[in-house]
Amino acid sequence: MIAVRNGSRARARLVALGAHVPERVVTNAEIETWVDTTDEWITTRTGIRERRFVAEDEAASDLGVVAAERILDEAGMAAADVDVLIVPTASPDHIFPSTAALVADRIGAHKAAAFDLNAGCTGFVYALAQACALIESGIGRNVLVVGAEALSRLMDPTDRSTCILFGDAAAGALLVAEEADAQGVTGFLGFELGADGSGGHDLVVPAGGSRQPLGAVDAPGDACIQMNGREVFRFATRVMVDSCTRMLEAVEMGIDEVDLLIAHQANSRIIDHAVPKLGIDPERVLNNLDRYGNTSSASIPLVLTEARDDGRLEPGHLMLLVAFGAGLTWGSTLVRYEPA
Ligand code: UT7
Repeated sequence: MIAVRNGSRARARLVALGAHVPERVVTNAEIETWVDTTDEWITTRTGIRERRFVAEDEAASDLGVVAAERILDEAGMAAADVDVLIVPTASPDHIFPSTAALVADRIGAHKAAAFDLNAGCTGFVYALAQACALIESGIGRNVLVVGAEALSRLMDPTDRSTCILFGDAAAGALLVAEEADAQGVTGFLGFELGADGSGGHDLVVPAGGSRQPLGAVDAPGDACIQMNGREVFRFATRVMVDSCTRMLEAVEMGIDEVDLLIAHQANSRIIDHAVPKLGIDPERVLNNLDRYGNTSSASIPLVLTEARDDGRLEPGHLMLLVAFGAGLTWGSTLVRYEPA
């Protein structure tokens, strides 16, 4: 892409959603055969009943390609018209090249700038902020964000505190430029984003980077997700409420004005804890943890795509999105769903 900044007054508008999950269903009963756990423990402690895993020959980009094509179909846009493709992911195909570059090539987005964004499970909200900024600064007009995760590849199947939680999926959204004064366009009302690296060790894949190259792995678990579940749980319950509250206060809105609350799908208990604290009607809170588990950067657009398909998400709805994850990071945004 090439951009000349000429006093753009564009606003970003979220026009389309889409998702793709791999075929293989892994039930709690199957996990009972790997580690000392029970379906009852997993269901009551997390809300998860099953999740999807990629096949042996599949990686994050394979899921991302299908999701990207579905989003563009939904919008009626050709891949050649995408200016920027952002892939938030914590489980990229490689350290480099970026998963985004691989997806862009395969869908035919040959004009697009493409890059990955790593903000753990907050990746989708961070990527929306990037996409919004690129559009509103006049750098790109059509920005595709596709969270693509194959976390099962980074999971230790002998660690019962993590192998029950994660699943694979890709999902995302298309943002387009709309003139700022166009009627009815409200786009993104704001973002509340943060990071606290002092908690980085609480959710980490220690090896495979420059700190501990794969060649220097001592224990096989070092190349897998390691999590201090209790600490992350405490952090997540706190920031989910705080971030949403700060976001609403910043735009002087009340929770009653929000049509749907969509939290990162990490654990139903985190969402259940936040709902009464935020004072939102539980009917307006989305949750599909039972079928997909924690799909990191894909979880928010995955549950949104489902809600679009079953009619719970309607054109014009104001959505409060909130996420938290490795970094530790967190973020929320208020955005209206405005399909073309
Ligand atoms: O997306 C990024 C953000 N990630 C998250 O938000 C995850 C946040 N953390 C969690 O969701 C929860 O901490 C877990 C689901 C990981 C764990 O649930 P918990 O209620 O926090 O359990 P715990 O770690 O406090 O462990 C309670 C007990 C322990 O036994 P003892 O020490 O009390 O005897 C664990 O060993 O449960 C045991 N335990 C299990 N038991 C059966 C831990 N995992 C399992 C398991 N099955 N899978």
